[in-house]
Amino acid sequence: MAADLEKTIEEVQSKLDIVEVIAGYIPLKKMGANFKACCPFHHEKTPSFVVSPTKQIYHCFGCGVGGDKITFVMKHERLEFMEALKILADKANVQLPQIKGGRYSGSGRSFSSVLYRVNEVAANYYNALLIGSAKSKDARKYLAGRSLNADVVTKFKLGYSSPAWDDFMRFSKEKGYSTEVLEKAGLIIPGREKGFYDRFRNRVIFPIFDVRSKAVGFGGRVMDESMPKYMNSPETDVYVKGRHLYGLNFAIEDIKQKDYVIIVEGYFDLIVPYQNGVKNIAATLGTALTVEQIRLIRRFTSNAVIIFDADEAGEAASLRGLDLLISEGLNVKIARLPKGIDPDTYVRTEGVDAFLKLLGQADNLFDYKLRLLLEKFNPAEPTEKAKITSEMLPTIKRVENAVLRSDYLKKLSEALFINEEALLEELSKVKIDYTYLGGNRVFKERVAIKPAEKIVAGLMIEDPDIAAEVKRQLELKDFESEDLRTIVKTTFAMLDEGKNPTAAKIIHQLNDDNLSHIVCEALTETENHVDREKSLRDCIVRMKSDNLKSKREELTSQMKEAETRGDEAKLMKLVNEMNNLRSVKF
Ligand code: CTP
Ligand code: MN
Repeated sequence: MAADLEKTIEEVQSKLDIVEVIAGYIPLKKMGANFKACCPFHHEKTPSFVVSPTKQIYHCFGCGVGGDKITFVMKHERLEFMEALKILADKANVQLPQIKGGRYSGSGRSFSSVLYRVNEVAANYYNALLIGSAKSKDARKYLAGRSLNADVVTKFKLGYSSPAWDDFMRFSKEKGYSTEVLEKAGLIIPGREKGFYDRFRNRVIFPIFDVRSKAVGFGGRVMDESMPKYMNSPETDVYVKGRHLYGLNFAIEDIKQKDYVIIVEGYFDLIVPYQNGVKNIAATLGTALTVEQIRLIRRFTSNAVIIFDADEAGEAASLRGLDLLISEGLNVKIARLPKGIDPDTYVRTEGVDAFLKLLGQADNLFDYKLRLLLEKFNPAEPTEKAKITSEMLPTIKRVENAVLRSDYLKKLSEALFINEEALLEELSKVKIDYTYLGGNRVFKERVAIKPAEKIVAGLMIEDPDIAAEVKRQLELKDFESEDLRTIVKTTFAMLDEGKNPTAAKIIHQLNDDNLSHIVCEALTETENHVDREKSLRDCIVRMKSDNLKSKREELTSQMKEAETRGDEAKLMKLVNEMNNLRSVKF
């Protein structure tokens, strides 16, 4: 990173108080040394979002988000790093360095607005070609063949891109857009040899709009069986996959009025029902629902019916992904279509009334999951029965309503012939892991980090002397957790560069939601340690003895193996190693 940029960041960090920054967005309440609020990033009724003025960080104990003031503004306003920095720098009266030629020249916001503009130009261009040109006869025929009428073509601003290599590029350059902007918008692609060419050629075009009806990206479908079936915009400064829902902008009023949203996968699965009067509908465009999409929906309703493809519906991973919906406070029902049939086909062949009837028969998430698991596992087999409970209990655990929860427990106990007390006991052991995967995807399964390691990390993060001491006594490989190794490595590197590691700097450098979360957790863990030197000594001893123990276990199993194979030489070597280990003192 450029040195002057780094200086600006430090200045912004030190001039602004995180409490003031966050209080500008949400009401904060003083609680002891910290401030508390209901987390703005997940749905909750009791505050578990904590802002620490001493550490200048925030952390939510409910959903696990955490970071410094810059990441807060990024998340809250959905901005890029430089855009958030710009806002904070203005607030702090700090000048941002000018970086020439990069996407950050000038303010990030104005760059985004160029992208919005060029996307609008592109949407209009493709749309005009579809509606008013002889060249698009086949495209119009294709859309008519898929039963779309002129109304939806206009409403969804569908378009057509010509087969030529650079028709759109030439058109938009004449309008004054540079190669750089067109490339950043994902509308043109660099050629293998030289030059650029249009990304979308000879396809029907579906512009993707955000909730404010600004075009952020495009999907283009071939009109025959050739591959790839869809060409999509890449992620850009204004289009992040999983942050938008296709068609939502046209559905908002109907969603509010009907107080539920229908969630489908594809473009045609949305447009065909829409054309037939089912307008409270949005599409994921073929990916699993993300937290951000769920929150988008929740602005308009707390009820959703998801239409699942019969093929993938039974997968454990997609079932677990569904638990996310409950955590986010969305009441969700699942409708299943016959195998191989999607909403587009279903509405065309069976009619819209049959479609609505099918939606009306949708199962709630609990029943749906249980039914699938009972199809898959045999509850008469103890191990399979345990499998079912281990999938169902985390779902139940996430249900906030106690009446509903007890109702589900009862149902589960009846379905599996387990008494409710036993289920309740198991339920109390279930821990929900809210760690985010890469920012906003579905939750990641996380390996537990040993407390001693976490405490050592927590202690060293806020105290350079302790960090230096840890660096003398431990090596990176002494940390079993890979995530902690990354964090500790960054901390050590700061020491080497003569910088004092602080939580905010480390979080900033790591630039990863999951790791920020662990940093915050480690700090919380050590917050109340009074005799920090003693805690450190104890934990280091603990780590070393744990490591020794696992080395011994490893040696023992190798010895057993050598013995069975009758490998005397190897065995002697291992015995020696074991003796050396025995004499280790610390
Ligand atoms: N998709 C994609 N790229 C592909 C296939 C699918 O981006 N190669 C996305 C598209 O957004 C598509 C959605 O995933 O709308 C659902 O995929 P699929 O069911 O295969 O396509 P349909 O929308 O049903 O398209 P069609 O009916 O034209 O085959
Ligand atoms: Mn289809």
